[in-house]
Amino acid sequence: MSSQLDEKLMVIFGRRSVRVYSPGEVDEGVVQKLLAAAMAAPSASGKNPWHFVVVRNRETLSRMSGTLAYGEILGTAALAIVVCGDLEVAHDNQLSYLLQDCSAAIENLLLCAHILGLGACWLGVHPRVERIKKIKEVFFLPPAVIPVACISLGYPGESKEPHAVYNPNCVHSESW
Ligand SMILES: Cc1cc2nc3c(=O)[nH]c(=O)nc-3n(C[C@H](O)[C@H](O)[C@H](O)COP(=O)(O)O)c2cc1C
Repeated sequence: MSSQLDEKLMVIFGRRSVRVYSPGEVDEGVVQKLLAAAMAAPSASGKNPWHFVVVRNRETLSRMSGTLAYGEILGTAALAIVVCGDLEVAHDNQLSYLLQDCSAAIENLLLCAHILGLGACWLGVHPRVERIKKIKEVFFLPPAVIPVACISLGYPGESKEPHAVYNPNCVHSESW
């Protein structure tokens, strides 16, 4: 198996966590594309249990920032999207399916952001109890709705090298 980066896959290898943003608003049309990409993700039994809270309000961003690791990057981000899942909708009402579905949506969103020239970073919420509590409070989430992550977004103020992290030790042929 080759570890060479295929040019056609550079969208995948080039996606990196961007934590520095340059000033500039992100158009609503661009946000709609991010959300459409997120909602195109696979989900267990096609339940699509995700919800997305789009946050541009600077005061709200600042309230979120204190509870998140590297949350201070929300100070210069144009917006954040809080990705949540509804346990009442998730397949078999299973938390694991909710998390897997929302994670697939998040990865689609991150790749879409990269394709559209935005920088983005996954700021983890679940399973940190204090972060879940704070985000539920800030956004008045219904009891069955669980915040999974906050995605910070903006035009990039830093550039990073594409990933080249193929690790043959993680690959097993036919059996472990
Ligand atoms: C489940 C999960 C939680 C993460 N939580 C945070 C976080 O709280 N803060 C942060 O700055 N980055 C967070 N990240 C981003 C990772 O730090 C980042 O993806 C990793 O270091 C690899 O770098 P890359 O995204 O540039 O490839 C998270 C990523 C994942 C998948």
